[in-house]
Amino acid sequence: MKQLYGVIGCPIHHSLSPLMHNDAFQQLGIDAHYHAFHVEKEKLPAAIQGIKALGIAGVNVTIPHKTAVIPFLDEIDEMARRIGAVNTIVNENGRLIGYNTDGPGFVRALVEETKTDIQGKRILLIGAGGAARGIYFALANAEAEQIDICNRTKSNAEQLIEASDVSVASHAYSLEEAEARLSQYEIIINTTSVGLYPDVEAMPLSLMNMNENTVVSDIIYNPLETKWLKEARQKGAMVQNGVGMFVYQGALAFEKWTGIFPDVERMKQVVIQQLGGATC
Ligand code: ATR
Repeated sequence: MKQLYGVIGCPIHHSLSPLMHNDAFQQLGIDAHYHAFHVEKEKLPAAIQGIKALGIAGVNVTIPHKTAVIPFLDEIDEMARRIGAVNTIVNENGRLIGYNTDGPGFVRALVEETKTDIQGKRILLIGAGGAARGIYFALANAEAEQIDICNRTKSNAEQLIEASDVSVASHAYSLEEAEARLSQYEIIINTTSVGLYPDVEAMPLSLMNMNENTVVSDIIYNPLETKWLKEARQKGAMVQNGVGMFVYQGALAFEKWTGIFPDVERMKQVVIQQLGGATC
């Protein structure tokens, strides 16, 4: 019988996940379909019951439900519990198990796309929201030496660090403080929405003091290359856009559901093509 998968969120109509997962199912000859479900905040408990009642095999969870969904699940994976957010649910014979593949997806994409070893690295995260939190935990798990967080509201960065039970060395900085000490970092990651379409002229941080051989990553993929990432590339950095994180979080979810790690290069092509970018 055809298995049903999906994503729950609000808004959801622009999601690229159905395209990406359905292509992977088709390519692997798996009899399954992935659908985008628009679920309003107040309908979340009913939607979760619906997953059980209808026997939906697995779902992704996106904005605004990633934290709110946790109390409705039967089991939470250790990494997802520490991050405090779930983006993937596996329905195991009626038991719903929550995972987080966002942070691990980011790290896997960073390692594979930039050929960078995280272990022992000094890293700067820009932003202290939900995306930063997942990436922070996953980078700490990958044994980074130092993960500092800078943010428009410095106290939010301080809170993220204080509330995290990780042993990595971390300092909170204002954006200006981080700009002044940028040459200290081997990897710089923008986790904010600054530079996202349509506000494409905005930049999260000045790169004036960046070293040439720094790895610079932006989790934004619309546009494919933000103004900030372009500037980093022109200054000699090795750059990575947000397509990798999106594709790898999806690939890791796909693996949890099917036991098969899909063809990520193909997934990237599907996503980039849909975004209107070059495919080679
Ligand atoms: P997400 O869950 O997607 O990470 P979020 O929780 O709203 O989204 O977090 C957004 C992050 O981007 C925050 O760190 C936010 O900074 P504040 O803590 O000061 O709000 C940052 N951010 C959003 N818009 C920004 C802007 N225009 N300039 C600088 N930082 C911004």
